Amino acid sequence: RTMSSASDAPNTGGFQTVTIFGSGLMGSGIAQVVAAAGLKVNLIDTQPASLERAQKSITSSVQRVAKRQHAENPEAVASAVSDIMSRIHMSTEPDAAIREADLIIEAIAENLPAKLSLFQKADQLARPDAVFVSNTSSLSIAEMSQATSASRRAHFAGLHFFNPVPVMGLVEVIHTADTEPATLDRLRTLCKAIGKRPVSCRDTPGFIVNRLLVPYLFEAVRMLERGDASVPDIDASMKLGAGHPMGPFQLADYVGLDTIKFVVDGWSAKYPDVELFRPSELLNSLVAAGHLGVKTNQGFYSYENGQLVKGS
Ligand code: 3HC
Repeated sequence: RTMSSASDAPNTGGFQTVTIFGSGLMGSGIAQVVAAAGLKVNLIDTQPASLERAQKSITSSVQRVAKRQHAENPEAVASAVSDIMSRIHMSTEPDAAIREADLIIEAIAENLPAKLSLFQKADQLARPDAVFVSNTSSLSIAEMSQATSASRRAHFAGLHFFNPVPVMGLVEVIHTADTEPATLDRLRTLCKAIGKRPVSCRDTPGFIVNRLLVPYLFEAVRMLERGDASVPDIDASMKLGAGHPMGPFQLADYVGLDTIKFVVDGWSAKYPDVELFRPSELLNSLVAAGHLGVKTNQGFYSYENGQLVKGS
C-alpha cells in the first residue's frame, strides 16, 4: 500500500519546488502558472528591478485570472492572489534555490554562453536527481546539456512555453538523445497539472510551433516587401480568412521584432541553404531603428502604453 496522505493532491510529476531563472515575460508567466498549481517557486534574477517588475506583472495577471474564476467575489479574488503570491519567492541569490530545487527552469535571455554557465554552475549545486529544463525557443537543448555532467543529461530537456503563458494552453517538451523517458513522463505530468497540453518534439530548430510560425511571419514580411498587399489587409486576411486571433504583423509586434530576428539570424547562419530561414531587410531595418514592436510602442503598428493606436 502506498501512503494515502497526499492522494488528494494533484499529481505534479513528483515536483514540489521549482526554481526559475529569469524574471522576464516568460519566467514570470511560468512562475505564475506553476505557483497557481500549488508548487513552491523560487524566481531568480540578477536584476532587482526585473524582480520588482515581475512582482507587479504577476500580481496583475493573477488578478485577471482570478477575476474570471470568481467574477462577483472580490474576497475570493484577493485570497487567490495572496495564496499564489505567497508561493513565489523572489531572489537575486541563486545558491539555496538551486540546492532545494526538484526542477530548474532556465528562462533567461537567448544567449548561449550565459545559459551554459548557468547550467554548469547549477549542475554542481543541485541535487543529483534534480531535472533541468530550458525554455529556449531557438537554441539547441543538446548543446546546452553539454554544460552538465553525463548523469544530469538523462534529466535534461526542453520545456517551451508560449506568450502569454497564463492563457496559452501548450507546452512543448523537447528531448535529446540523452533524455530519459521517465524524466519526460514526469514533465508531461507537470504540464497537465498546470493546465497545459504537453506535446513531444525532437531537439530541432524551432521545435513545432516556431518552426511553422516564424517562417510564416517572415513570409508575411516578404509579401509586404514585394508590394503584394498591405499590413492591415494581410492581418485581416489571416484573422478573418484563417481564424487566427492575430494577423502576422500584429503577432510579430507582440512577440517582438528583435526576438524573431534573433531566431532567423541563428537559423540562417546554421542552415544557409534553407529558403524559409532567410532574413528580411525590412525587418532588419525596423530593429536597427529600435522599432521592436509593442514593447517600444512602435513596430509594424504604433502603440501607446502597449495598446494599438487605431489606424496606425
Ligand atoms: N495574464 C492573464 N490573462 C490574460 C493575459 C495575461 N498576461 N493576457 C490576456 N489574458 C486574458 C484576458 O484577461 C482575457 O480574458 P477575459 O476575456 O476573461 O478577460 C483573455 O485572455 C483574452 O484577452 P483579451 O480580451 O485582452 O484579448 P484577445 O482576445 O485578443 O486575446 C491573446 C489576447 C490571448 C494574446 C490572443 O490575441 C492570442 O492568442 N494571440 C496569439 C498569441 C500567440 O500566438 N502566442 C504565441 C506567440 S509565439 C511564442 O510565444 C513562442 C516564443 O518562443 C516566441
